Amino acid sequence: MTRRAGILGHPVAHSRSPLIHGYWLNSHGIDGRYDPFDVAPADIERFLGDFTASGLIGANVTVPHKEAAFRAAVELDPVASALGAVNTLWLDDGRLCGANTDVHGFLANLDAANPHWARGLDEAVVLGAGGASRAIVFGLISRGVARIVVANRTQARAEALRDQFGSRVVPVDWQDLPARLAGCRLLVNTTSLGMKGQPPLDIDLSGLSPDALVTDIVYVPLVTPLLAAAQARGLATVDGLGMLLHQAVPGFARWFGVRPQVSEELRALVLADL
Ligand code: ATR
Repeated sequence: MTRRAGILGHPVAHSRSPLIHGYWLNSHGIDGRYDPFDVAPADIERFLGDFTASGLIGANVTVPHKEAAFRAAVELDPVASALGAVNTLWLDDGRLCGANTDVHGFLANLDAANPHWARGLDEAVVLGAGGASRAIVFGLISRGVARIVVANRTQARAEALRDQFGSRVVPVDWQDLPARLAGCRLLVNTTSLGMKGQPPLDIDLSGLSPDALVTDIVYVPLVTPLLAAAQARGLATVDGLGMLLHQAVPGFARWFGVRPQVSEELRALVLADL
């Protein structure tokens, strides 16, 4: 019988997840489907409450349903518990289980570029303090980064991250960024600045360490103004497309029993669709 999974979001038509999972289903010769499901916020609780009726063996969950999925899952992995957000669901003996694979996606993307990126790294600077930032701060702490400086337009949200994760998170005023970037070896943008249709992220990178790594979770365009500015300074960069691809791996493995690869061919396929 064809195994079916999909992505729940609202809107969801823009999602590249069907392309990614469809590629893996095809390349592994698996009898499966992966479809987008546009579920309105008013309907998500009912959808998740009777997930077995959907005929799906599991699903990814995107904006704005990650918190509803967190509430609906009766079992959670430790990352989802810590973040209060679920992006991957599956059924275990009829019980709805949830995980958050955004942290894995972020870390695996950096690991693929440089397996030693966290070695000796005592401080990172993270721009933004939304849901993506929370996942990334969690991931950086899990890799032993001692101090995570968080700058956000709305400083109260950066302070909320400190309240959650403790004094390793240091909220700073956006205006103080140039000083905080002096000697910085890892800079992460989690804001939507630089995304197609949004203003660019315009910050002075001159203080960054010459061996700094600059990464952006925005992947449309693939080379954001931030990454272009970093490259112009000869700094190493990692684009955000890899995070999208890597976060999809654990769900596919769980639903379809094969751990898929994030190959150059897959990257090129998704890139052509951006
Ligand atoms: P996500 O789940 O992707 O993190 P989010 O929770 O909406 O989404 O967070 C978006 C982030 O981009 C926030 O840090 C937001 O700053 P605020 O908390 O001040 O809203 C940031 N952001 C979005 N538009 C911005 C802009 N024009 N200037 C500065 N920061 C912006």
